[in-house]
Amino acid sequence: MSTPFAPAAFPYARPRRLRSAPWVRRLVAETTLTPADLVWPLIVHDGAEERIPVASMPGVFRLSPKAAATAAVEARDLGIPMVALFPNVDAAIKDGVGTGATDPDGLIPDCIKAIKDAAPEVGVMTDVALDCFTDHGHDGVLEDGRIVNDATLERLAEQAFIHAHAGADVVAPSDMMDGRVQAIREALEANGLQDVLILSYAAKYASAFYGPYRDAVGSAKALSGDKKTYQMDYANSDEALREVAMDIAEGADAVMVKPGMLYLDIVRRVSETFRVPTFAYQVSGEYAMMRAAMANGWLDEERGILESLHAFKRAGCAGVLSYFAPQAARLLA
Ligand code: PBG
Repeated sequence: MSTPFAPAAFPYARPRRLRSAPWVRRLVAETTLTPADLVWPLIVHDGAEERIPVASMPGVFRLSPKAAATAAVEARDLGIPMVALFPNVDAAIKDGVGTGATDPDGLIPDCIKAIKDAAPEVGVMTDVALDCFTDHGHDGVLEDGRIVNDATLERLAEQAFIHAHAGADVVAPSDMMDGRVQAIREALEANGLQDVLILSYAAKYASAFYGPYRDAVGSAKALSGDKKTYQMDYANSDEALREVAMDIAEGADAVMVKPGMLYLDIVRRVSETFRVPTFAYQVSGEYAMMRAAMANGWLDEERGILESLHAFKRAGCAGVLSYFAPQAARLLA
């Protein structure tokens, strides 16, 4: 943005005056970060243990449905409006089409119900994608080595319906199939679930920074090849605007850019162009990278967390998904 007038020259202009004390810095701050800007991603699992640490993500645990409900209560008490669920299921239930993704008595419906019992005032968002339930680790149906778009849409629509039926407030397709928002919106409309929000991962890039997450949900070993035929190429930016335009036209209420810190240029363009609530995901690799630097004493923990999250607000985000959410909310309290 260009300044509409020529700024006064030094010594009359001394920009440091506006930075001279905490009170004036607070007074003139252009953006704010509060717990209400945070979404807490929870990795849930169907194992016996309540909480298992994720090695590559210090401070993050795989949670049982009961532990997820406890986390939701914590979110409520910290002023975090929403949690987002990501499943780690037993490899034995994984198959080619991700049958487990549409099990109405599966892990995610169980978690939604447990959370809604414990903390009904906390929003619950679910991941709509097959990767955590397929034995090949892809987000879609695999046939002859290819991810088949339209056959996947039916699976995703059914998965979103099952989540919404179990009580999810927000369904979030993260698969990057073409037309999935429309397929999901139609399934919700047809089943009296028209009030459920769709937050689409509209601009989701094929990224190295999902590594620790794939480990956390147990899809890393399963994954054959990469996801470049459906997730976006990180060389592209205009393409993100086309993806977002499509998803809004198909019925998305809000959109997401992912990963986060490396893609704030995309957040800025999307939020300015469309003026719809725009979210971004500070993903597992970004989290792990920061934790590693903190563990070495190379990055100050508190300052690093708050600065990294505030950057999302400055870029134009309505909110940010971050594994730092509970710690950040405590720092902001
Ligand atoms: C896919 C999905 C991914 C993440 C959330 N949902 C990764 C992938 O595409 O493999 C990544 C989240 C993170 O890295 O924190 N359904």
